[in-house]
Amino acid sequence: MGKLDNKIALVTGGTGGIGTAICQRLADDGAQIVTTSTNPEKAAKWQAKQNFDSTIIKCDVGNYDDCKAMKEQIEKELGVVDIVVNNAGITRDGSFRKMDTEKWSQVITTNLNSVFNISHQFVDGMTGKGYGRIINISSINGQKGQFGQTNYSAAKAGVHGFTMALAQEVARKGVTVNTVSPGYIATEMVMAVAEEIRNQIIAQIPIGRLGKPEEIGALVAFLCSDEAGLITGANLAANGGQHMH
Ligand code: CAA
Repeated sequence: MGKLDNKIALVTGGTGGIGTAICQRLADDGAQIVTTSTNPEKAAKWQAKQNFDSTIIKCDVGNYDDCKAMKEQIEKELGVVDIVVNNAGITRDGSFRKMDTEKWSQVITTNLNSVFNISHQFVDGMTGKGYGRIINISSINGQKGQFGQTNYSAAKAGVHGFTMALAQEVARKGVTVNTVSPGYIATEMVMAVAEEIRNQIIAQIPIGRLGKPEEIGALVAFLCSDEAGLITGANLAANGGQHMH
């Protein structure tokens, strides 16, 4: 018996570094996995490599109509979603003087508007059932700011404001809403930072290493469990001690 047997979990951007580990862990706990992708070919290759079943739906999380169509498809084919992990995200780094409107709006759309676009589809299903989990993946850089990430830090800080507000609105209906703020995790996104800069960042992490995607998967799985029913509106940091507050 898994803790999440008979639960349907939608993990946006589930084919990425942290997303894959979240999908894997929720599947290990018994959940049926649905994920989004904007690149069906890449997603099909990903799916073939995993040891769990999943449903992949082509969806741009920054586009409300795509999210609405996805909800209709999931409800028709699988049922009402119990768990939403808003994980899809991108970076478009550059110092503020080099930040253009495109880099700004791409990151706000994909990392922040998506949280509205997706959660808006599924929250009524959860409150109707009297059970639900919404977990928003933010970042250490939404908590402390980061040189070169005015766009990303703004979006990620905004995500937690959303969490705290929605948590209050759905608390009495058995739905919890939380933020997880990973630090620097060993994924392609972090490996894209120039090596020299990355090494300077690692030097600031008290545990002396990057995080592992599975460490975020384990935290998300805990938040999904019944045991975590008391935790709502929280922002849980998993950053090796790089930022404490
Ligand atoms: N503090 C102060 N000054 C800094 C600095 C810092 N942290 N980082 C760079 N600078 C300085 C440089 O020394 C350089 O100075 P000079 O001009 O005097 O030589 C100047 O700033 C560079 O400025 P530019 O305008 O040329 O910067 P740029 O547009 O080329 O951008 C950058 C540089 C790409 C942002 C680079 O600094 C960088 O990659 N920084 C790391 C960004 C980062 O941590 N991204 C995280 C990605 S992973 C992720 O986001 C996942 C997660 O949630 C953690």
